[in-house]
Amino acid sequence: MRAMVLDGFGGPEVLRPAEVPAPEAVAPTDVVVRVQAAGINPIDLKTRAGGGVAALLPADGPKILGWDVAGVVESVGRGVTRFAPGDPVFGMPWFPRPAGAYAEYVAAPSRQFAALPPNVSAADAASVPLAALTARQALSLAAAGPGSQVLVHGAAGGVGYLAVQLAVALGARVVATARGEDAALLRGLGAERVLDYRGEPFEKALGPTLDAVIDLHGADGYPQRSLEVLRDGGTLVVVPSVAPRPEPERDIRVTGVMVEPDRADLEAVAALIASGAVRVRGARTFPLREAAEAHRALESGEVRGKVVLLP
Ligand SMILES: NC(=O)c1ccc[n+]([C@@H]2O[C@H](COP(=O)([O-])OP(=O)(O)OC[C@H]3O[C@@H](n4cnc5c(N)ncnc54)[C@H](OP(=O)(O)O)[C@@H]3O)[C@@H](O)[C@H]2O)c1
Repeated sequence: MRAMVLDGFGGPEVLRPAEVPAPEAVAPTDVVVRVQAAGINPIDLKTRAGGGVAALLPADGPKILGWDVAGVVESVGRGVTRFAPGDPVFGMPWFPRPAGAYAEYVAAPSRQFAALPPNVSAADAASVPLAALTARQALSLAAAGPGSQVLVHGAAGGVGYLAVQLAVALGARVVATARGEDAALLRGLGAERVLDYRGEPFEKALGPTLDAVIDLHGADGYPQRSLEVLRDGGTLVVVPSVAPRPEPERDIRVTGVMVEPDRADLEAVAALIASGAVRVRGARTFPLREAAEAHRALESGEVRGKVVLLP
């Protein structure tokens, strides 16, 4: 099959097209999925450069990036009861182990996929799983629920715009930080208040009243500064894994999160998309063979929002 493999670690130029053996269902509970679209996430760029989860890529054999997939079930193991060949699915299989989504096929346990919601295209759906699972798992750590007040930093990004909607769906009240141009979008998604991160520092604009902060920025002292807006006993979830975490104080819980392919979370996200409670933003597409250009466009900031690769 066609795939984009890594020639070592480095800049976007290390991504090159290659013919590699197609993955097979190893366990009877595995499915093989024909990839229609593979989403790109920040972790792909970090891993390509030698950081992220680079250490988990195979030492021998082709190193293939990518976790977010939307596609069609090609074949199923004899123990698979949830899907049949031809079913449209999406998911974030294997993370943080390699899934090899920058390719024509992936193989993974069936429970790492969910049925594709009927109201979203494969190209747009491929931008969702890793971001939505991260958002949901962070909100769960933060115990976001009816009436709780949650601040989402980086709310207009790939994880953030889903975190805002998932928090609202849980009944939480959301404050967001984003660039001013994105305020109307975020209010339209249910944020009650949007603070321009280039304006007054958020800790000056907010009192120490929030139940939880989901920090998707992690830089510029955000984790430390976020303690100032949390109530005693609140929760700070710092999502970028490289961000330094402050020492907890005032009984505040400080935690990171590492996203996992959880079936219940993925099916909950799929149901919210299907019902219209969570809206999916359109993704920019690049042909799979232009994965290096896609990485370059994301790294340079030329493209904002989600990017997916089409084999
Ligand atoms: N631990 C995990 O398992 C896990 C999972 C998923 C993601 N992550 C990490 O979480 C981070 C966010 O991921 P993502 O996919 O949402 O990235 P993204 O799409 O690049 O979004 C980042 C957002 O942060 C915004 N931002 C930049 N500076 C800011 C500031 N000073 N204040 C508030 N917001 C600011 C950006 O806005 P502009 O567009 O205006 O610059 C952008 O909207 C990344 O570091 C990613 O690697 C970790």
